[in-house]
Amino acid sequence: MNHPLTDVTRTLGGIAYGGDYNPEQWPREVWREDVRLMREAGVNLVTVGVFSWSRIQPRPGTYDWSLLDEVLDLLHAHGIAVDLATATAAPPPWFTRQHPDARPVTASGTRLAHGSRQVFCPSSPAYAEAADALVTALAARYGDHPALVVWHVHNEWGNHNALCYCDTSADAFRSWLRERYKNLDALNDVWGTDFWSQRYGDWEEIDPPRDTTAFRNPGQELDYHRFCSDALLTRHRAETTILRRIAPRVPITTNVMGTLEKKVDGYAFAAECDLVSVDHYLPAADPDGHIDLALNADLARGMARGRPWLLMEHSTSAVNWQPVNVAKQPGEMRRNSLAHLARGADGLMFFQWRQSRVGAEKWHSAMLPHAGTEGRVWKEAKALGAELAALREVTGSRVHGDVAMLFDWHTWWALELQARPSDQTRYLDAVRDWYEALWTLNITCDLVPPDADLTGYRAVVAPSLYLLSDHDADNLSRYVDQGGHLAVGCFSGVVDEYDRVHLGGNPGALREVLGLVADEYLPLRTQDHALLEDGTRVRQWVERVETRGCTPVLRFADTTDGGPAHGGPAVTRHSFGRGTAWYTATRLPVTALREVLRTLCAQAGAHPVVDAPPGLEAVRRTGEEHAYLFLINHTLDTAHVSVTGVGVAGAEITDGRVVVPPGDVVVVREDLTIAPA
Ligand code: GAL
Repeated sequence: MNHPLTDVTRTLGGIAYGGDYNPEQWPREVWREDVRLMREAGVNLVTVGVFSWSRIQPRPGTYDWSLLDEVLDLLHAHGIAVDLATATAAPPPWFTRQHPDARPVTASGTRLAHGSRQVFCPSSPAYAEAADALVTALAARYGDHPALVVWHVHNEWGNHNALCYCDTSADAFRSWLRERYKNLDALNDVWGTDFWSQRYGDWEEIDPPRDTTAFRNPGQELDYHRFCSDALLTRHRAETTILRRIAPRVPITTNVMGTLEKKVDGYAFAAECDLVSVDHYLPAADPDGHIDLALNADLARGMARGRPWLLMEHSTSAVNWQPVNVAKQPGEMRRNSLAHLARGADGLMFFQWRQSRVGAEKWHSAMLPHAGTEGRVWKEAKALGAELAALREVTGSRVHGDVAMLFDWHTWWALELQARPSDQTRYLDAVRDWYEALWTLNITCDLVPPDADLTGYRAVVAPSLYLLSDHDADNLSRYVDQGGHLAVGCFSGVVDEYDRVHLGGNPGALREVLGLVADEYLPLRTQDHALLEDGTRVRQWVERVETRGCTPVLRFADTTDGGPAHGGPAVTRHSFGRGTAWYTATRLPVTALREVLRTLCAQAGAHPVVDAPPGLEAVRRTGEEHAYLFLINHTLDTAHVSVTGVGVAGAEITDGRVVVPPGDVVVVREDLTIAPA
């Protein structure tokens, strides 16, 4: 398989393992210990230079390569490869001093101060010039370095500075709009500027959607999201163009943040990389954070179009940026890591190698903690390195999702603009509910955009896909017409790509394929609920649906407890062409949603990976001769699973059954050359 990540793992001799390495934070004596311990832990790849700009270029026009020269040579001499960052994510103080206007400005007009990272306006010409010069110099210096195996462009584009409202951004926004709409009438039309007397007579009258008296124009705000994401994408392209020109042999990546980052369209960045890499951190407030992990891993695979991908950052234990930074339990880091591996990662990296002694991230865990090699985390990191070496044969194998879940940043932006029917409706909540329902069924899904090629999927699900262009709606209708099984969540298909309602009855873009009209959206107060006829309680969202060919599968109870749509359809099914389309006219709890999806998936032929008890996560990676079944036990009970194959890395199989102790993970190698019994 000829894929840049496969080339990298071949060079490394297996699964990539390591983390961000920030040697500038430590005296030189420590570097020698670092490389020795990296070897001991099985580290074969480190990310260098993410925040090195002020060391590489201490003054304008003056480069000092001494640190990177020495570190890269040292790593290479110890057989450790480098993912070299372009260092553009943290401009040095001299840059800000020279260009105070390059600092980002908030929606309320505050210009942010220097003193953190990503302190730059994405549209600043001064930043572009300085960053491009740095990348050019860096590529010329290290493009041929034997340690270098991947370019790491910037770091988490837009994490802190995506939305800038300064005058430079305003100018760039206007240019972007001219390019998009060509004439002002077209813009006035789609933004609906005759509402509230906002009609523009000159491009120069248009500003970013800064803080104002009342609701902002939604079309303007939605386009501003797109513009901001594009402004960063322009910077990403500028860097990649330089790298490809000067050092074409080295593949390029950037760490995309998945659902951790609303402000940039992850698909757009992933599409511009030779290999896809992502960061994931467990949300500590979520008792089932491993489901969020799985969701993001499946999104990473969707972004990588099914190919293996690289987990660029996760944490060995606690982070330092959540309200309460819960430490991982013994064994949890291993479980997290192997769960990413199960879902298609060919590399597992951490932020960061050595825990900082100073600075804002000193309370963030690392592979080598403050306690050094005495720490529990170190011991687990070292054991994981050894285990990954034993699992190296899984690299290059792929996960095939039977189901596609449509996930879209544009819907996320639009659904959460101001003045919606309910501010309780959060896009990620809907996505999570649907994902969790599939996760509990052990049905593997790929998260893909609404314009993805859906033909190979047995079923497609679309949680609250509020924004849907006619083009993407056709993609869904065609899929069903040709025999596909589609399930659509409430408040989907409502507006077009400009946030204009599709007229003629909601959900305009999907009315035909679903065979219904949602006559009214009836959001519930926080304290209210509605009952379904089977006793299920639903919260937050109810729709009064009129059938237009669909069959109600489940109704709201026909009593006052049934809520504002009592007696009406809550779940429907519609035969359309050769396929079937389901709709949920309410936010079903995960348990109820699971039953709907269980039925749909059974009819569609999308099956659980194995028959396993609740809380036992099962995923399969398929290679050319072997498949690898990963079984991850998230419960406190021992699980027994029937399998056909042999255990990898120490797993034992007796009489066709494997035991998965509480909190443990086992991997089973299945021989694809033997026909299943
Ligand atoms: C990421 C970032 C890293 C580090 C990490 C801490 O967002 O890329 O540099 O700050 O968070 O969790």
